[in-house]
Amino acid sequence: MLEKIKNMLAEVEQLHANSAEEIEALRIKYLSRKGEITALMQDFRNVPADQKREVGVKINELKNRAMEIINDLKASFETSDGDTADIDITRTAYPVELGTRHPLTIVKNEIIDIFSRLGFSLAEGPEVEDDWHVFSSMNFAEDHPARDMQDTFFVESHPDIILRTHTSSVQSRVMEVQQPPVRVLCPGRVYRNEAISARAHCFFHQVEGLYVDKDVSFTDLKQVLLLFAKEMFGEDTQIRLRPSYFPFTEPSAEMDVSCTLCKGKGCGMCKGSGWLEILGCGMVHPAVLEANGIDSTKYKGYAFGMGIERIANLKYQVKDLRLFSENDVRFLKEFEAAN
Ligand code: PHE
Repeated sequence: MLEKIKNMLAEVEQLHANSAEEIEALRIKYLSRKGEITALMQDFRNVPADQKREVGVKINELKNRAMEIINDLKASFETSDGDTADIDITRTAYPVELGTRHPLTIVKNEIIDIFSRLGFSLAEGPEVEDDWHVFSSMNFAEDHPARDMQDTFFVESHPDIILRTHTSSVQSRVMEVQQPPVRVLCPGRVYRNEAISARAHCFFHQVEGLYVDKDVSFTDLKQVLLLFAKEMFGEDTQIRLRPSYFPFTEPSAEMDVSCTLCKGKGCGMCKGSGWLEILGCGMVHPAVLEANGIDSTKYKGYAFGMGIERIANLKYQVKDLRLFSENDVRFLKEFEAAN
């Protein structure tokens, strides 16, 4: 018996095949119900009791080795076969975890979608900017206290190079190369030197809009912003404009929307006022048009700017601004349905 097992093992070690059919024939020859190895195992009954242990181990070894060899033959045959050769072995293993869009991206895309339906195209610019595009071309006079409104990060040893504090710099970049009509939306990240807390961060995201053409009026601005508010927060949303000040717009205003939570009745979120501030806007200051090469006697424009975090907070009631930049998967997963 031991001799038989040894010989069959030697035989099995030599097996080779040229097709799937040949491999299957080998499997049947050795391992099927009527196969040679199966027959040996049936003979095991007749082995004297004192040899059973040794023979049993050898028979199992033979069977396992035969299965291994036949499976290897199958595997090598399959990978050289046309059907399976184009498997992408660099692909991520299943199950593939699908990510979710970041809430700020979701809100940004929604804002872009609304304004692109109104004919606004997109423009982007650098985050590391020069003083001219962020301040001077936007009518911030040298040493004007208005520059203090936005706490600026400067690049050490290059006082002229700064991290942009608003995306108005992109408006300037568009106007210097394009004559009216100009109708652009400028989304992007901006930086301000503020202590990080639940309510403030040293960077955040803005979307600014600019429309310059003949006969652009404040009424146009108001109408576009009302439409935006209704699209963003719901058909029954109301807006109100309060006079404000920005160096680059005159007149300037801040816009509130009726509270998205209590619909204007007054609640904790709107501090009882029924209104929530969401953006700054105004008619482009003639000095800004001139500084950027546009004739202010022929053209007028309006501009507006809003913080994406602010809008996202109002939509999703995110209590702590820091959550937006911490990449906590549990937080991000909550926006799966909004994707
Ligand atoms: N740039 C302003 C800010 O960052 C927002 C704004 C843009 C206001 C356009 C009016 C017009 O605060």
